[in-house]
Amino acid sequence: MTNLAYFRGGCSGPWRIVSVEAVRGETLPCAERLEIVSCAVAEPAHPVEASSWTLKGVAGHARYATRRELDMLGATQAPLGRGEATCAALIPIRKSQGWWTLAQDERRIIFEETSHHTAIGTAYLPAVARRLHHCRDLGEPFDFLTWFEFAPEHAAAFDALVAALRATPEWGYVEREVDIRLAWD
Ligand code: HEM
Repeated sequence: MTNLAYFRGGCSGPWRIVSVEAVRGETLPCAERLEIVSCAVAEPAHPVEASSWTLKGVAGHARYATRRELDMLGATQAPLGRGEATCAALIPIRKSQGWWTLAQDERRIIFEETSHHTAIGTAYLPAVARRLHHCRDLGEPFDFLTWFEFAPEHAAAFDALVAALRATPEWGYVEREVDIRLAWD
């Protein structure tokens, strides 16, 4: 399996956990640091008990974006790992059964034509770098692990972005969301 990423909250890792906010539903146990392990084949050999929690997801292909949107994103978005992007957010999200019983075309209409998710997000590129991981079909407690990196001067803009998205009809289908903020220090 490719592009499998493990997010481990515990007492080690390069990212310091600054805050954990349960936006909707149950929170996650406390942890001081986050380690991200990307793995091509199987679960890495680190002892699981060293983690307070481990979430895994696959950074796979896009489901909803049109050709035009993908081209625009490809031309505008920044890569992860920029030296100045010392702030990050890990926002695991689970959507409701009502969302998943919709057809693909119905979900796309809510996601973009009604909620303007990509259009809203595009205004924050390239300041915010992003990666979306899917995990619903891995039997995980969340459906998505969303990961963002930005410089400290864009932290307020990132807050405005998440507030704008949370006010959309799409977020009416979110039944669990934990907002974890991190710093590279
Ligand atoms: C999915 C863009 C910020 C949560 C997507 C997709 C795009 C996108 C294009 C669809 C991928 C596909 O075709 O499958 C952006 C841009 C952002 C941004 C440009 C600006 C930085 C955010 C933020 C959150 C978020 C801040 C969380 C608070 C999600 C989730 C999905 C998603 C959960 C999966 C939706 C689903 O498949 O049902 N985003 N996004 N995004 N994004 Fe964002």
